[in-house]
Amino acid sequence: MKSEIMRVDKYISNQLNGVSRKDAKALCRKGEVLVNGSVVRDSDEKIAAGKDTVTVQGENVAYKKYVYIMLNKPKGYVCSTKDGKSPTVLELVPPELYKTGLFPAGRLDKDTEGLVLLTDDGELAHKMLSPKSHVEKKYYVELEHPVQDYYINEFEKGLEIDGGDVCLPARIEFIAGNDKTCYVYLKEGMYHQVKRMFDKLSNKVVFLKRVKIGGLELNPNLALGQCLELLHKDVEKIL
Ligand code: URA
Repeated sequence: MKSEIMRVDKYISNQLNGVSRKDAKALCRKGEVLVNGSVVRDSDEKIAAGKDTVTVQGENVAYKKYVYIMLNKPKGYVCSTKDGKSPTVLELVPPELYKTGLFPAGRLDKDTEGLVLLTDDGELAHKMLSPKSHVEKKYYVELEHPVQDYYINEFEKGLEIDGGDVCLPARIEFIAGNDKTCYVYLKEGMYHQVKRMFDKLSNKVVFLKRVKIGGLELNPNLALGQCLELLHKDVEKIL
């Protein structure tokens, strides 16, 4: 693994959820931090993250460069790091998972529910959101009026929505037993895109939930407003 040189207190606070820089310095002073088996009391000391072995109070502190969190977003929260008026999705991250630099990779509308990825990995977010990467997002949709067969063709052709934006070819999948529901698959994320696509077809989205990003599915056991830390192998499913 490629190593990164950093101060030992920074390493500890980055890797251990809920441990601040101040806490990490105190742990060093108390002699509770070992680097490659030797006590390190000076928190200015530099280590090679990913190469050196760091233990705190006898426990190995494994190197994780970035954090990835799956959130089941409820209505009423905005996908940004700051908002003057509404609560942000970051407020739903429990302290033990919170890390400076976290942001939502991609946006859902305030009234949309479902899968949001929170991370501090800018490169992954960029790849995931770039239309060139063709990462498909799956939405569960409830409509005011029944779906029509001709929607399939309209979605496939690439709908021209209000304001003249032309959508990439998209897919719609009907759900047996309820003709006012469907799944929509998009490889891009224009502002209010799903809602605008159905507006164009003289229908109206009354409920919207994102259920999948690439190969990463919203965990069905994750309640609204709850977060789950993802493993690297889960994150790889996105791209
Ligand atoms: N399309 C929408 O209209 N809203 C969302 O939140 C996501 C996709």
